[in-house]
Amino acid sequence: MVDKKNRFSLESRRYIGCKTKLVDWMFGLISEHTHDIHSFCDIFAGTGVVAHRALQQYERVVVNDFLYSNNIMYRAFFAPTEWDEERVQSIIHEFNDIAPSKLRENYFSKNFGGKYFHQDTAKIVGYVRERLKEMQPTLTDKEYAVLMASLIYSIDRHANTMGHFDAYHHKAPVAHPFQMRMVEAESFPGVEIHQQDANQLARTVNVDLTYLDPPYNSRQYSRFYHVYENLVQWKKPPLYGTALKPKEENMSDYCRNAAFSTFTDLMSHIHSRYLVVSYNNTYHSKSSSSENKIKLEQLEEVLSKCGETKVFNHEFKAFNSGKTEFDDHREYLFITEVDNEKRNRSFPAVLRG
Ligand SMILES: C[S@@+](CC[C@H](N)C(=O)[O-])C[C@H]1O[C@@H](n2cnc3c(N)ncnc32)[C@H](O)[C@@H]1O
Repeated sequence: MVDKKNRFSLESRRYIGCKTKLVDWMFGLISEHTHDIHSFCDIFAGTGVVAHRALQQYERVVVNDFLYSNNIMYRAFFAPTEWDEERVQSIIHEFNDIAPSKLRENYFSKNFGGKYFHQDTAKIVGYVRERLKEMQPTLTDKEYAVLMASLIYSIDRHANTMGHFDAYHHKAPVAHPFQMRMVEAESFPGVEIHQQDANQLARTVNVDLTYLDPPYNSRQYSRFYHVYENLVQWKKPPLYGTALKPKEENMSDYCRNAAFSTFTDLMSHIHSRYLVVSYNNTYHSKSSSSENKIKLEQLEEVLSKCGETKVFNHEFKAFNSGKTEFDDHREYLFITEVDNEKRNRSFPAVLRG
C-alpha cells in the first residue's frame, strides 16, 4: 500500500518571488476581468504555483522556465506520463535506510558538506544522486523526476542558508537524520512543459492568456539556486568562490540593463488575447542589486501600447535579506486585453521581425 500522507506540496518550497500567497487574489482578478480563457501560459513559472492553479481551471497550460531545477519540478508535479508510485516509494525507503558512516565522500559532500549542508546529509545527497543517475535508464521520466524533486524538497528545509545559495550561514550546519519524502505528484493531461528562454518561446506559443512574472532586479536566479542546478545536471563542474558557484549559465537579460528592451521584444511577439503581468516595487530600496531594472512607468507605457490595461495592487511582505528596506511595498497585477492592431502600430516592425 502506498502511503500518501506526509508528502511535500508544490507550495512548500522556499523560492524568492514565489506567488503562493497571492494566487487567490490574482486568480480572483483574472476570472473577473477576462473571458473565454481555455489556454494559459506561465512563461517565467519559477516554482510553478501559478501554473498549478491554472491547471485546475484551464484545458491547456504551457509552463516554462529556463532553469533545470524548475523544469524537473514541472515534470514531477504535473506531467501526465506513466509511473509506478509503489516502485518510487520503495526506492525512497531504500535511500532512507542508508547510514552515512558506510558511504565514501563524493562530489556533493566534498564541496558542500559542512557549509550548505551537514557533512552526513551532503554525503547521502551525493550518493543518492549518483544512484539516480545509474537507475535513470530503468525509470520512466516521471519516476526519475519525482525522485529528483523529492530529493530537493527533502533537503531544502535543512540547507544552512537564508533560503537560497548566494551564501551559507557562518555557524556550522545542524545534524539531522536524512529522511526523504515524496512530493505530491499529480497528472494533468493538458500540460505542456518547456525549458526555454521566454523570448524564444513567445514566438512559437499561442494561448488565450499569458502570465508574466520575470525577475525585476539584478539578482540572477541561476546564481541563487546554483546548488540545485548543479545537482539536477550532475556534470560535477569545478566551483569557485566562497559560495561555491559553477561557471555562469542561464543568465537572464531581465536582470541586466537590457531588461526593458528584452521585455519590449517579448511584448511585441506574444500571441495571446490577454497579458497578465506581476510587478513589485522594490525600486526604492537601498541596495543597488535590488533596484528594479524596469520602472513601473516603463511597464505601464509598454502595456498601454498593447491594449487596454487595468492595474490592481496588493500589500505584500516580500523576501528581505535584511539589506533592503521596503517603504510601501506593493505587489501589482496588470491585466491587458490585447488589441493587435494597436500593438502592431505601436511597435516598430524591426522588433516583430
Ligand atoms: C519572479 S520568478 C517567478 C516566480 C513564480 N511566479 C512563482 O510563483 O514561483 C522569475 C523566474 O523567471 C525565470 N527566468 C528568468 N529569465 C528567464 C528567461 N529569459 N527565460 C525563461 N525563464 C527566465 C527565473 O528562473 C525565475 O524562476
